[in-house]
Amino acid sequence: MKENVTIFNHPLIQHKISIIRDKNCGTQEFRSIVSEIAMLMGYEVLRDLETELVEIETPLEKTMVPMLKGKKLAIVPILRAGLGMVDGMLALVPSAKVGHIGMYRDEQTFEPKEYYCKLPEDINKRKILIVDPMLATGGSADMAIEYVKKCGGSDIKFVCMIAAPEGIKMLSEKYPDVQIYCGCVDRQLDENAYILPGVGDAGDRIFGTK
Ligand code: PRP
Ligand code: URA
Repeated sequence: MKENVTIFNHPLIQHKISIIRDKNCGTQEFRSIVSEIAMLMGYEVLRDLETELVEIETPLEKTMVPMLKGKKLAIVPILRAGLGMVDGMLALVPSAKVGHIGMYRDEQTFEPKEYYCKLPEDINKRKILIVDPMLATGGSADMAIEYVKKCGGSDIKFVCMIAAPEGIKMLSEKYPDVQIYCGCVDRQLDENAYILPGVGDAGDRIFGTK
């Protein structure tokens, strides 16, 4: 695995991913667990946020305390499934701005098709977390990173829950400057470019569309 890839080995993350793999896990549970996983991942992904000392007054005395400083954040979900990770991340950093990148995979070619993109205007000044539960061929993540870069974004992390070896290899080699965080690397892609064992179609499972 390349240096720019972090695989979470935290038992809570592993356990929660295992729960959503079960085909009997319903929409409501699936959605809320995806959000919990996103929050757990966010805690680690944001470990490098800088702090500065600020003076405050406790009931007893004045003191210097660390507060977040520096670049602001942008959370950028890849629609639709990435939306499921936004609330969990926002719970940690409520002041983050949220961009959207809408794309779906063509069912025959598996190539991503873009249909909607909107990023915060000052994206070039922000730390950017692109989020999507699934990294399969890597086509969607690739297109999303290109788009964010074209809009001026440079401080980019990509956060996913489950990846196929193919997707993680492609992304980590093509973007050595992007740190990739992943809950679990699965075995392989099937003939329809679905991740095995995976969770099936994450968008359908989060929104109950199938
Ligand atoms: C899923 C998933 C990723 C993409 C991953 O979205 O959420 O965006 O597939 O596949 P890739 O790595 O091969 O590009 P999908 O296209 O199914 O759209 P949806 O979230 O709207 O269902
Ligand atoms: N997109 C999904 O939602 N699931 C997969 O397994 C692959 C792509």
